Amino acid sequence: MSTQLESPSLRLKDSYLSHVEEFRQRGDWPIPFVLKFPTDDFPAFLERLQQCALGSEIAQGYAPHETFWLVEDGVNVVGVSNLRLELNDNLRKDGGHIGYGIRPSARRRGLATLILKETLRKARERGITRALVTAEKGNIGSIKTILKNGGVFDSEELLPGYHDVMQRFWIPVS
Ligand SMILES: CC(C)(COP(=O)(O)OP(=O)(O)OC[C@H]1O[C@@H](n2cnc3c(N)ncnc32)[C@H](O)[C@@H]1OP(=O)(O)O)[C@@H](O)C(=O)NCCC(=O)NCCS
Repeated sequence: MSTQLESPSLRLKDSYLSHVEEFRQRGDWPIPFVLKFPTDDFPAFLERLQQCALGSEIAQGYAPHETFWLVEDGVNVVGVSNLRLELNDNLRKDGGHIGYGIRPSARRRGLATLILKETLRKARERGITRALVTAEKGNIGSIKTILKNGGVFDSEELLPGYHDVMQRFWIPVS
């Protein structure tokens, strides 16, 4: 089975939509946040993602960000990651450089570990030498994913609006 990171494309529309639907049906928070972008006009959705990477069409307080899909066998979208191309004050507290989520039916197969590894590779290609990654302390799967990718604990904080402590890790990528 081949599993690789790809740029979003019209070809994988149905699989992407079923990925988002699985999050919704399971009642999972849409992570990364681009899962919330409307997809009724799919070409417009893809164009919006491209513009976000260029730094246009991004909401106030957001940094330019690039989205990737983790694709199995060239047809199944099983994960989505979002790489923030620069940090701002918000992202330094919560969010960091990279957010990721794995399709519920594809979890516990090492795919989060893989999507973070591959997105770190993209970060390096874009000149980022160390990546900040954050996760809530109780999100054991995400904390383990970060540690397995070389994350070094930096700090933790209970942020307003959260019930759990946010932990921050730096991952060297050079
Ligand atoms: C967190 C998440 C990304 C993990 O994805 P995954 O593909 O299941 O993770 P992996 O299979 O790569 O597992 C990584 C490690 O975490 C462990 N793990 C994964 N989910 C776990 C869970 N729910 N409870 C305990 N451990 C878990 C795995 O066993 C593995 O550890 P091991 O190698 O010691 O066995 C996935 O559950 C998800 O998408 N959650 C919703 C979005 C989210 O929370 N994203 C992270 C935001 S910071």
